[in-house]
Amino acid sequence: MKAIKTGATPSTLDALEYVDVEDAPAPGPGEITVRVGASSLNFHDYAVVSGMIPAPLGRIPMSDGAGEVTAVGEGVSEYAVGDSVVSTFFPDWLDGAPPTTAFTGVPGDGIDGFACEAVTAPTTAFTRIPKGYSPAQAATLTCAGLTAWRALFVDNAIKPGDIVLTQGTGGVSIFALQFAKMAGATVISTSSSGEKLDRLKELGADHLINYKEVEAWGAKALELTGGRGVDCVVEIGGPGTLDQSIVATRVGGHIALIGVLTGFAGNVQTGVLMGKNQRLQGLTVGSRAQQLDMIAAIEANGIEPVISDTFPLENLADAFRHQIANKHFGKIAVEI
Ligand SMILES: NC(=O)c1ccc[n+]([C@@H]2O[C@H](COP(=O)([O-])OP(=O)(O)OC[C@H]3O[C@@H](n4cnc5c(N)ncnc54)[C@H](OP(=O)(O)O)[C@@H]3O)[C@@H](O)[C@H]2O)c1
Repeated sequence: MKAIKTGATPSTLDALEYVDVEDAPAPGPGEITVRVGASSLNFHDYAVVSGMIPAPLGRIPMSDGAGEVTAVGEGVSEYAVGDSVVSTFFPDWLDGAPPTTAFTGVPGDGIDGFACEAVTAPTTAFTRIPKGYSPAQAATLTCAGLTAWRALFVDNAIKPGDIVLTQGTGGVSIFALQFAKMAGATVISTSSSGEKLDRLKELGADHLINYKEVEAWGAKALELTGGRGVDCVVEIGGPGTLDQSIVATRVGGHIALIGVLTGFAGNVQTGVLMGKNQRLQGLTVGSRAQQLDMIAAIEANGIEPVISDTFPLENLADAFRHQIANKHFGKIAVEI
């Protein structure tokens, strides 16, 4: 079968190789083989293929994968040949508290991922997909969708009338906007682009801020809430945006610390965070049980992921170049 592999250590985009690799093995007991129909890009995948996260030579990247079951192993009753499935980010985290194994079992990072035509893995490494979803739509859920879901409904309990702030127009943030609107929340969304702000409005964002033009966007968000502050910030920037998020958040509010787009460490006004009795919670994606809850909510509310661009597997490096140039809005899909 065909696959993309890292071709240098540390990995670089230019060294990614589109190669023939051995077919996925026949499924053993408790396993299924999935013909992968699509994947989707996340910043985490870029970190792997660009060498930011060390990966062994020849690693098959991409955490997200969706497709059709083509074979089932002994004892498998949850899936049958022909079923549509989507991968989970942490195949070993089924339910309960987050795992202590970090990223060692994460496809496309600690183990081979979904930039290939077929994968054999335990049934628990997949869930069903929302009814009517294409493989490309389903593949957006593994990382970006579930991260936004957990920020709003697992680590918080966003309800009608709450105010949520989303940053930028990447995969996590667009899902956060869609889920927050689904819950009846008011949403303040930021972007660096006027054109993307218009698209955010079309998706239901109630208030828009251009974070390039309004550097003190935290104060602007505070003003938009009449001085009260937002209930939850979906924080995808990290140290470079956290101070503004603290300003924007209400006393006792929640900041879901998700992203590293501005770096992995920095100076933050911890005194203000403390003084405002805010809860800053780091999170890494979610469990399989949470993915199933999210899928039920997606079906009940007719949510469809926003995919702005689609690339074939062999052009994966171009897809990443498109992503880091911030040309996308929502998700970038990979057809396999
Ligand atoms: N902890 C987790 O479990 C988890 C899960 C998923 C993602 N993440 C992290 O979350 C971040 C976003 O991931 P993603 O996959 O959604 O990325 P993505 O699709 O590549 O989104 C990037 C977008 O973020 C916006 N952005 C960039 N710098 C910004 C800044 N300083 N302030 C506000 N917005 C900014 C830009 O939007 P505009 O073009 O509109 O300005 C850009 O298009 C990454 O750091 C990723 O590693 C973490």
